[in-house]
Amino acid sequence: MLRASVLRLLGRPGASGGARLLEYSGPRHYSSGPLGARDDAGGARAFFTTPIFYVNAAPHIGHLYSALLADALCRHRRLRVPGAAATRFSTGTDEHGLKIQQAAAAAGLAPTELCDRVSAQFQQLFREAGISSTDFIRTTEARHRIAVQHFWGLLEARGLLYKGLYEGWYCASEECFLPEAKVTRQPSSSGGSCPVSLESGHPVSWTKEENYIFRLSQFREPLQRWLRGDPQAITPEPFHRAVLQWLEEELPDLSVSRKSSHLHWGIPVPGDDSQTIYVWLDALVNYLTVIGYPNAEFKSWWPTTSHIIGKDILKFHAIYWPALLLGAGMSPPHRIYVHSHWTVCGQKMSKSLGNVVDPRTCLDRYTVDGFRYFLLRQGVPNWDCDYYDEKVVKLLDSELADALGGLLNRCTAQRINPSGTYPVFCTACFPSEAGLVGPSVRAQAEDYALVNTVATLPRQVADHYENFQIYKALEAVSSCVRQTNGFVQRHAPWKLSWESPVDAPWLGTVLHVALECLRVFGTLLQPVTPSLADKLLSRLGVSATERGLGELCFLPRFYGHPCPFEGRRLGPEIGLLFPRLDQSRAWLVKAHRT
Ligand code: MSP
Repeated sequence: MLRASVLRLLGRPGASGGARLLEYSGPRHYSSGPLGARDDAGGARAFFTTPIFYVNAAPHIGHLYSALLADALCRHRRLRVPGAAATRFSTGTDEHGLKIQQAAAAAGLAPTELCDRVSAQFQQLFREAGISSTDFIRTTEARHRIAVQHFWGLLEARGLLYKGLYEGWYCASEECFLPEAKVTRQPSSSGGSCPVSLESGHPVSWTKEENYIFRLSQFREPLQRWLRGDPQAITPEPFHRAVLQWLEEELPDLSVSRKSSHLHWGIPVPGDDSQTIYVWLDALVNYLTVIGYPNAEFKSWWPTTSHIIGKDILKFHAIYWPALLLGAGMSPPHRIYVHSHWTVCGQKMSKSLGNVVDPRTCLDRYTVDGFRYFLLRQGVPNWDCDYYDEKVVKLLDSELADALGGLLNRCTAQRINPSGTYPVFCTACFPSEAGLVGPSVRAQAEDYALVNTVATLPRQVADHYENFQIYKALEAVSSCVRQTNGFVQRHAPWKLSWESPVDAPWLGTVLHVALECLRVFGTLLQPVTPSLADKLLSRLGVSATERGLGELCFLPRFYGHPCPFEGRRLGPEIGLLFPRLDQSRAWLVKAHRT
């Protein structure tokens, strides 16, 4: 964890050097108004970020998952608070450091060539996967060098950097120093043994250098105050607790540069070309570069920022980054949302095991919306999740093709809805008060339960998004889809006749209620399956301006209000909403055999 590497100081150990630390002055206040207007960051703007991705290898499904979580949060927020100026969303590639320098050398490429090639792969993947980012940053851009060097200058001016001899195990793959306790020995091909990182198994090497060192040890209390004052700063809660626990342990100062003779692929320390800035400091500042730092415009987006990160990079985001920010006179980010990892058939994904899952193949096989739905429905931030092909097919066939697609088909098919309209809701058949009896009353207790559940669904979904439990939001929608299918099954509209004056009002009501439920599901699925939701809402005749959460008023006729959809023509026929990915697909048969 955060135990010290051997650290001998040439500078004055632990001296503050006149450092001015920004005291964290307690939590900000968050408003919680009605669903549409709710703004968790307490301001009009929100800024979401993904980690920036290393370009040493092609993207895999874990990377796509990080980006999808951020995309879904961001899209959900846009549904609540519309307007391009209100939400910003950045992603990008992390292109400096020893890891990239070594990968380029191994591939016989110049580092810039490798960076251009792999960064383009990430950009293409994200375009194809519908990642709705507003900014893509590459750390090799000139604007980023300016931002990093400016940030460095601030730390220096505030007395937070000093020169010292830094000695310890360095893992190029993780780009960090490791304490002795995190290093083990592995048999090497030459018959001896080589030191590797206990956690990742990647090689480590002993490094002893004079570097610039950041006075991280002085930030223990400000960090503790920040986290204790804002229990949701790191979400989900177990990660918040883990960081507080780390802060109880040793917190040594942090080496923030490398000798340029050893690491040339990076940003030089201002005024000292013999040193290159540590890649993690360089990478973290990307979050400021994209919002215009060091120009004052960045202040309108900072600190209303939510970082989405994997658990492996929690220490960098929850300890180093907030400490660096406080050191530079800024506030920590608003939220750090943490997710766990994907394994494949029970194993960690790795090039050496040859089990890396290519996300573009998955998007082709399962469709963009299908694969987005799978990853977000099955991915649980609190613990690792396992990937295998049959699991995807089973989930998509049952929830998107059969349950949701089937429900839409049941309510819109020509046979059952020959007029192709949103039918009229009959209050006499479905009075707003449960338990009434009368000749025209047809609604039963379970029907009232359905209406209540769907009415509260948008709020439930919003709460799950806020707690970074998107899979729970999808679980709740899926459960309501099942309940709505049960409602249709119970009343078997196909047995009712439009010709019968007794049946017709109730038949219309059953279809109206089911279509209203579908409208809610389509609206709530937009952040996860944007094209499928668009197809569904278009089929229901819901226009682009009627798809926000502020406009989502479920079943108004039941509550005594007019319904703008009643009597409206449905949209054009769309065929199957989501075709089944049945077992006959050639690739699946092949996957079974191997
Ligand atoms: N470059 C750093 C981040 C710097 S941010 C200032 C980095 N890059 S990475 O490419 O290794 O990882 C990017 C993201 O992908 C991280 O959030 C990481 O957790 C995530 N994933 C990498 N492998 C993963 C899985 N197997 N499963 C899920 N996410 C995984 O770290």
